[in-house]
Amino acid sequence: MHALQSLHTFALPSQCHQLVTISAWQQLQDIDFSKPFCLLGEGSNTVFVDDFAGTVIRIALQGISIEERDSDWLVEVAAGENWHALVVHLLDQNIAGLENLALIPGTVGAAPVQNIGAYGVELAQFVEYVEGFDIETKQCVRLDNGQCEFGYRDSVFKHARKGRFVITQVGLSLTKQWQPQLSYGPLQVLRDGQPTAQQVCETVINIRQSKLPDPQILANAGSFFKNPIVSNEVVTKLKQRFATMPVYYVDPQQQKLAAGWLIEQLGLKGHQIGDIAVYQQQALVLVNQGNGSAADLIAMIEYIQRHVWHQFQVRLEHEVRLIGQYDEIHIQGVMNE
Ligand code: FAD
Ligand code: EPU
Repeated sequence: MHALQSLHTFALPSQCHQLVTISAWQQLQDIDFSKPFCLLGEGSNTVFVDDFAGTVIRIALQGISIEERDSDWLVEVAAGENWHALVVHLLDQNIAGLENLALIPGTVGAAPVQNIGAYGVELAQFVEYVEGFDIETKQCVRLDNGQCEFGYRDSVFKHARKGRFVITQVGLSLTKQWQPQLSYGPLQVLRDGQPTAQQVCETVINIRQSKLPDPQILANAGSFFKNPIVSNEVVTKLKQRFATMPVYYVDPQQQKLAAGWLIEQLGLKGHQIGDIAVYQQQALVLVNQGNGSAADLIAMIEYIQRHVWHQFQVRLEHEVRLIGQYDEIHIQGVMNE
């Protein structure tokens, strides 16, 4: 058995049967994928809520290559590289574009899985291709951006290719015609000047450090729930009761609600079950204060889902991937208690 506590940022005390580290993609050909397995990067979006009765496969492939083209840079990055280190490495070479996504924890290989996003920018805007090992055919496959089916915190790697595809490399296209993306509220202060990508990056880092707990200091997995996407009718009804509720445009039919706002309205900031708490500075983040248990975490998820449902008739779906004894599990919450 191998301890998993230090391999996921929520740091629950769990174990797995076997642990394999992949540092060359050919190693994947020798793995028996017919037994339970779990792909892992840096564990910043994964919580092991049970002992895992299978093999945890850590993707540690390394390497970055940069090719200059007429109007952009093609940046090809191995899946085990650290995302934030890549952002900094590119900015150091005056290759801009990823600065709004600075300080997002985790690996490059996990980034397409939930299409990481922050401060008005999503990974999907830069992906030229995602390359990986198809577990069924044992072949390397290259998917273009459209085949990745990116959405808000979503991609084909959570659906048709879930459990079938090990991402080994990501190809990013970064245009030479860089423009700062300053649409997100707190970044609008930069609009008056002509900020460099480096300045945008520093501002993003400052905002993040003021709102989000550092997992090295306080165990957490970032936003625990997705921001719910609801119809315009639902928004109109809610706005009649909660006029100041923030909403974000998605498409002509739908809008996105701020789950952190909903949770804060319920007075749940700081709410604790055992050693699991709703983070005081950001209600969308759950923290493990040191001795948190999986049972307390699940009780907290259900408690929040139930209370949000009762007050707003909105279902919250957890963004964080919960891994049970054999596979991923989903907590739906019991709404009628
Ligand atoms: P892991 O947790 O190890 O894995 C995540 C999922 O991807 C798992 O389902 C895993 O099976 C799968 N996976 C991992 N590697 C591969 C691979 N090579 N091939 C196929 N599947 C794979 N996310 C955002 O989008 N925006 C944010 O602003 C943000 N802020 C965060 C802040 C904090 C403090 C924390 C702790 C997390 C935050 N996150 C954010 C979530 C997290 O950083 C991202 O989801 C990140 O991409 C996870 O990377 P990882 O390597 O840690 O993934
Ligand atoms: N809000 C509250 N109370 C809170 C938290 C938020 O009222 O406790 C309100 C804010 O005032 C704001 C709105 O909710 O009006 C949105 O808050 P914020 O800008 O902090 O962003 P978020 O919706 O909580 C999302 C992402 C983050 C990403 C930020 C910045 C999701 C699930 N979360 O958070 O991603 O960094 O926007 O773009 O989409 C993650 O995925 O792990 C993550 C941290």
